[in-house]
Amino acid sequence: MITVRNLSKSFTTDRGVVEVLKQVDLDISAGERIAVVGSSGAGKTTLMHLLGGLDRPSSGSISFEGDDIFHFSAGELDAFRNRCIGFVFQFHQLLPEFTALENVMMPALISRITATEAQAKATQMLKAVGLGHRLDHKPGQLSGGEQQRVAFARSLVMSPKLLLADEPTGNLDSATSDEILALLDQLHAEHDLTIVVVTHSEKVAAHMDRVVHMTDGCFTFV
Ligand SMILES: Nc1ncnc2c1ncn2[C@@H]1O[C@H](COP(=O)(O)OP(=O)(O)OP(=O)(O)O)[C@@H](O)[C@H]1O
Ligand SMILES: [Mg+2]
Repeated sequence: MITVRNLSKSFTTDRGVVEVLKQVDLDISAGERIAVVGSSGAGKTTLMHLLGGLDRPSSGSISFEGDDIFHFSAGELDAFRNRCIGFVFQFHQLLPEFTALENVMMPALISRITATEAQAKATQMLKAVGLGHRLDHKPGQLSGGEQQRVAFARSLVMSPKLLLADEPTGNLDSATSDEILALLDQLHAEHDLTIVVVTHSEKVAAHMDRVVHMTDGCFTFV
């Protein structure tokens, strides 16, 4: 489904060039669930942003179902992200001025389905993450774990093929993180959802099909 080849990413800072990803290769099959683990600064978030088409590499390619995503025009890339990718950010990045329901509706509205349909889908997704009673709360009125669950609902509302989740259970207690894992199991079973999750949790990692270790911008095999 996804083929990552020779992917490198450097950032230029005032102290010189920082090489963050160093020629990584990765193959992800449809329906596969992968945990990415590694120490802080290893390059995990950078990899996730590239996989989701949120940033461009310095060199190398990512092909998604045969299309090189970095050959897409800006408009094509936006459409691809909206249709195929669900993203849960490390710092959830909800819009503070909008309610939980409105935050979750946002990707659906962008895709130009009707507002009624977007609202129905968003409500269903928020119920699935156990927040049916918090639809009209704004992020500031929700706990950290609840905000994280809203971010999950938002990432899943468009029924993506690939879910990219960057430390999604970092703020969650173990009961809530079990509920999220159960929801992921269900989506995987019903829709063959492909999942790449960055995690420090051994429990979450053990729940995936494969664990990839990152050290200093490279994959290491242990
Ligand atoms: N925009 C940027 N400009 C310069 N350096 C950056 C930029 N983004 C990331 N880096 C550097 O790249 C390295 C990897 O960052 P990244 O966020 O991918 O790490 P990570 O593995 O996700 O770490 P953590 O577990 O702490 O979230 C870090 O050393 C960081 O300082
Ligand atoms: Mg990170």
